[in-house]
Amino acid sequence: PKTLIEPFRIKSVEPIRMTTRSEREALLAQAKLNVFKLPAEDVLIDWLTDSGTGAMSSRQWGAIMEGDESYAGARSFYRLQAVIQQITGMQHFVPTHQGRAAEKVLFTAVCKRGELVPNNCHFDTTRANLEYLGVEARDLVIAEGLQPALIHPFKGNIDLARVEALLRAEGDRIPFGMITVTNNTGGGQPVSMANIRAYAQLLKAHGKPFIMDVCRFAENAMFIKMREPGYAETSIRDIVKEMFSYADGCTMSAKKDGMVNIGGFIVLRDEAWMDAVRNGLIMSEGFPTYGGLAGRDLEALAVGLEEGMQEDYLRYRLRTAEYLGERLEAAGVGFVRPTGGHAVYIDARTVLPDMPVEHYPAWALCNALYLEGGIRGVEIGSVMFGKRLDDGSETYHSMELLRLAFPRRMYTQSHFDYAAEVIAEVKQKAASIRGVRIVKQPKFLRHFTCECEWI
Ligand code: F0G
Repeated sequence: PKTLIEPFRIKSVEPIRMTTRSEREALLAQAKLNVFKLPAEDVLIDWLTDSGTGAMSSRQWGAIMEGDESYAGARSFYRLQAVIQQITGMQHFVPTHQGRAAEKVLFTAVCKRGELVPNNCHFDTTRANLEYLGVEARDLVIAEGLQPALIHPFKGNIDLARVEALLRAEGDRIPFGMITVTNNTGGGQPVSMANIRAYAQLLKAHGKPFIMDVCRFAENAMFIKMREPGYAETSIRDIVKEMFSYADGCTMSAKKDGMVNIGGFIVLRDEAWMDAVRNGLIMSEGFPTYGGLAGRDLEALAVGLEEGMQEDYLRYRLRTAEYLGERLEAAGVGFVRPTGGHAVYIDARTVLPDMPVEHYPAWALCNALYLEGGIRGVEIGSVMFGKRLDDGSETYHSMELLRLAFPRRMYTQSHFDYAAEVIAEVKQKAASIRGVRIVKQPKFLRHFTCECEWI
């Protein structure tokens, strides 16, 4: 087969700036060895996140001029509503400014202190929004999903036996069940249709609604098409339709598969929760026909949701991550396998096997990629998930991963080739990579703002 190409051409360009190694050393020192504090202009390839960072199409930019900025009942709302109703098959829709706002509004409307919500893995903001309300967020991903090197087609699946046991033992505490597609916290891994279907049936048998976190629903659908028996000939639209048919409601960060720079929404199948949702929305986001977005944002999303489901695009999208994975494998660098939809998660332990965890190997690798080649990723290790306790002792995370997340339609194959070269070079020079100590940190979410020193 021939090279799988980017199924678009470039109409508008944004220069990126090369820096020298000595400039990067100074910039990283200024940023207190924390890449979150770097000005984006000083980053050559920015793989911090795939959220809201992608390129919009000329059709989306055209739609932006059609935005109706009326406070109530804007035409843009009705246009987006029709698209979302059609894709999800659900009638009740409200926009929010992004995914975490959808979570906050929905959970506040329907959860009570002391309850428990199962999920394959809760994303950080989902967990935080539940815990803030005194609700326990329980991760029940299958055991395979926690082993980076193990190959399995649907590592995002939820463990149905544990779900069933939980429903039996603590069903009265469970307001609804959730699933996250794809499973971002677990490596961007997909959930199979069979798993979604069986989970939905289990919840139904116990009288519990089923809420899906659908940020990356289109990428998940493409994985189903490529990997799940019986779906090879099914269109993405029909796979998506079937996925949504099992759910009673969804929260969405449109900054991912919505192909926009800002936006989110809640959809629900029936009316029951809508009054509480609308009231909460008005309190924190805005009137229910704009929900914290401009009319033009709603227009861009109406187009983006359709574009995000195009099969050529999705095939190229998943191939991109797979391609970088192949290059890493050739360089002897380990990563979460198989590669996910939106990102590659490097296992820092395979580059820095001897660095003690107290020196934060994944953070060290993140800094090394910036110093070597101006690439910015994000540490998913003991800085993000560890904690300094009040007695001064530290807790550490079970894995030391570096996530390289790819903005949609933004970087070309040569950017990926360059990154692969940089990573291979970093691996060669692993002995010279320095760990860090944290010298200043807040109590929560320390990775965003902590300050470090070289060891
Ligand atoms: N759910 C999942 C699975 C996510 O990955 C995210 C965001 C959210 C919810 C929250 O959405 O950012 O629009 O408020 N993930 C981004 C990331 C931030 O980098 O993975 P948001």
